[in-house]
Amino acid sequence: MGKRAWAFSLLFLVVLAYLSHVHGDVHPGKKQHDHQKKKMKAFKASFIRRDSIAKSPSPSPSPSPSPSPSPSAVTVTPGPRVYHVTSYGADPTGKLDSTQAILQAISDALQGPTNGFLMQGISNLGGAQINLEGGNYLISQPLQFPVVGRGNLMIHGGTLKASDNFPTDGYLLDLSTSSNNAPEYFFEFITLRDLLLDSNFRGGGIQVINSLRTSIDNCYITHFTTNGIFVKGGHETYIRNSFLGQHITAGGDQVERNFSGTAINIIGNDNSVTDVVIFSAEIGIILSGQANLISGVHCYNKATGFGGTGIYLKLPGLTQTRIVDSYLDYTGIVAEDPVQLHISNTFFLGDAFIKLKSINGLVNGVNIVDNMFAGSDKGIDIVQLDQSNGHFKTIDQVVVDRNNVKGMNLKSTIGSGVVQGNGTSWIVDFNPILVFPNLIKNVQYTFYPSRNSFVNHALRNVSNNRVWIESQEQVPASVFVVVNQGT
Ligand SMILES: *[C@@H]1O[C@H](CO)[C@@H](O)[C@H](O)[C@H]1NC(C)=O
Ligand SMILES: *[C@@H]1O[C@H](CO)[C@@H](O)[C@H](O)[C@H]1NC(C)=O
Ligand SMILES: *[C@@H]1O[C@H](CO)[C@@H](O)[C@H](O)[C@H]1NC(C)=O
Repeated sequence: MGKRAWAFSLLFLVVLAYLSHVHGDVHPGKKQHDHQKKKMKAFKASFIRRDSIAKSPSPSPSPSPSPSPSPSAVTVTPGPRVYHVTSYGADPTGKLDSTQAILQAISDALQGPTNGFLMQGISNLGGAQINLEGGNYLISQPLQFPVVGRGNLMIHGGTLKASDNFPTDGYLLDLSTSSNNAPEYFFEFITLRDLLLDSNFRGGGIQVINSLRTSIDNCYITHFTTNGIFVKGGHETYIRNSFLGQHITAGGDQVERNFSGTAINIIGNDNSVTDVVIFSAEIGIILSGQANLISGVHCYNKATGFGGTGIYLKLPGLTQTRIVDSYLDYTGIVAEDPVQLHISNTFFLGDAFIKLKSINGLVNGVNIVDNMFAGSDKGIDIVQLDQSNGHFKTIDQVVVDRNNVKGMNLKSTIGSGVVQGNGTSWIVDFNPILVFPNLIKNVQYTFYPSRNSFVNHALRNVSNNRVWIESQEQVPASVFVVVNQGT
């Protein structure tokens, strides 16, 4: 099938779905039916119109949308709402400064026709689009949205590059406000997609403050010095299918030691980072808000050996973070006083490990299970404790188990061992395997004499992660021991 045929059959399917939907919902009287037919025609027309507009950029130098403000919530406003930045004078060759032109397009889009509200205080822009038309634009000031309280808008399809005088604390795309009487949430359902953001080693890529349901999708963010993406307040910023790196490299870079900056910095709850590659930065992701999900993330930013960190969980005392299906590549995870942390189905390569860092000595509700670790036979432990601020004192519900290693040292909160001998004393030392020093909460053992006899025996001591079993008489025997630090 050709592309056109595909598009038509797709349209047909959509139409069919639409028709069956309305038929299912309403009484199919004749009048109603005609009305629906009309609606269908309009629907189809709008589809085709949009399509043709997307293909042929507006030749007129004036902006394509009608800039009149919305008269009322339910009015159907004529004309498409695609704002082409070249219509505003933006230079797609990246030579001339396009800041004012793109800001004007953003401003017009934000003040364009609206269709009711999303959250209270957030006007619905109906899916308006700011189209970068595949251009490369030079930007000298943050593109800070000039109006707040708007939602359902997309910016897509091009490259933004910071100029040599871009402020070093700025972000190319800035969803924030300096207004004092802003609503609780500044924006809702803003989509930033198919963008390359080049911070030119001056500041960051995207800032999202106090916003709801923001999508950052298929973006490539590079040359940042602060944060590639900074999220604060609000919730449900979904960062997906994107690539972030301070330096453009494919690994093994000569200047890796000098990588700085953070690719993704999230100070907020309920966000998600999925299917993202972080190819250079000092820290891949810093989280300091709860209930965030990290999934399918490949970190090969600065290696641990050079002082880098893949994922830094800075939420001591209440972590509530899930890291799953990810790939930590020569750089690891640090969690401060983790409370409710789940790390699973993740691959750690190049001696990458997980560090639990004591702040107030608390660790509770941690699962580190079903991961794979691979290293270079240097005896690196897969889970390590940083107790430089004091020892972990409160340890509860910690499960480090069912991980596998190749060329690294397995650590676990569950240990099993066997000791054979001919004597009265059997000692199994679990220090090589157990994560926490001097902590055994549960012991089970089996005394198995190789002679056909009954032998009196007892558990004598379990201190310092060593289990000592004594028999009343000297016998050849095997003693099997299982210990648990978790519960
Ligand atoms: C890396 O940083 C060090 C110290 O700041 C500096 O001396 C060195 O020139 C840098 N290397 C490169 C390749 O930029
Ligand atoms: C165990 O030790 C005792 C005393 O030294 C000895 O008599 C006995 O033969 C040993 N048993 C085995 C199976 O080595
Ligand atoms: C267990 O052994 C340690 C030395 O390893 C000792 O300090 C402690 O008193 C022993 N506990 C008991 C109950 O014997």
